[in-house]
Amino acid sequence: MYKIISGKEISLAVKERVAAQVSEMKKDGIEPCLAVILVGDDPASRVYVNNKKKACEFCGIRSLEYLLPADASQEELNSLVEKLNDDKSVNGILCQLPLPKHLNEKEVLNLIKPEKDVDAFHPENVGHIMIGDYSFLPCTPAGIMEMLKYENISLDGKNCVIIGRSNIVGKPMAMLMLKENATVTVCHSHTKNLKEIVSQADVIVAAVGRAKFVTADMVKDGAIIIDVGINRNDDGKLCGDVDFEACKEKASYITPVPGGVGPMTIATLMQNTITAAKIQKG
Ligand code: GUN
Repeated sequence: MYKIISGKEISLAVKERVAAQVSEMKKDGIEPCLAVILVGDDPASRVYVNNKKKACEFCGIRSLEYLLPADASQEELNSLVEKLNDDKSVNGILCQLPLPKHLNEKEVLNLIKPEKDVDAFHPENVGHIMIGDYSFLPCTPAGIMEMLKYENISLDGKNCVIIGRSNIVGKPMAMLMLKENATVTVCHSHTKNLKEIVSQADVIVAAVGRAKFVTADMVKDGAIIIDVGINRNDDGKLCGDVDFEACKEKASYITPVPGGVGPMTIATLMQNTITAAKIQKG
């Protein structure tokens, strides 16, 4: 028998906790503020940015949106980041990825002041995560850890297999799981015997970006399945990287798509924004 881990429910609990903290901060004259930059009009990015704005409204966080045209220059983008870096009323800066191909993502991420880097993508913050001493955690991996904590799932000694080695999910996920004493394997497109490795996992984190990538024959009985994917199936319906219907029968816990990891990413962003505001106000 499996249990669905509801990101919708858990993210609501996190956002309520953040909202309560924001009310307290406002009594001390602190109004946390998040600035989001979106370059171009990618429909999926537009949806994410709108969801971030709604979450800010829910939590009482001031949100600023900067929409740059798809052909914006690197100089335009950099100077916006510099302006927001210098603006004392702005606590968090998020540049929605991916950027249009002509823009240098690394250059922008390196420019965001580490204390305003609510994505934790700046090399300084990445370094802090590596040594297990951090202010901000990357939103998706931290959201996943929060889900596991909420369900009282300990990772101590567990065999965790992450599929995907991105800087946004796979790599920081491995660091957070290691910190909780898991044995971590990171698989990727060059991994040999992927099925064999995944089928030994107590916890599977799928962050591949391909519908039905994880099939039931790859899942050990009782495994915990975390699905980070957001894809469209042939009918245009939102789905994850996991063949949910088939895999759930073997799982002990499984996250759905939508309503799983996605809302947790946004809830963590809210948490990071108030952390940033607290750091900046000393
Ligand atoms: N695009 C997809 N996920 C993310 C994220 O967590 N942060 C940013 N900035 N862009 C993303």
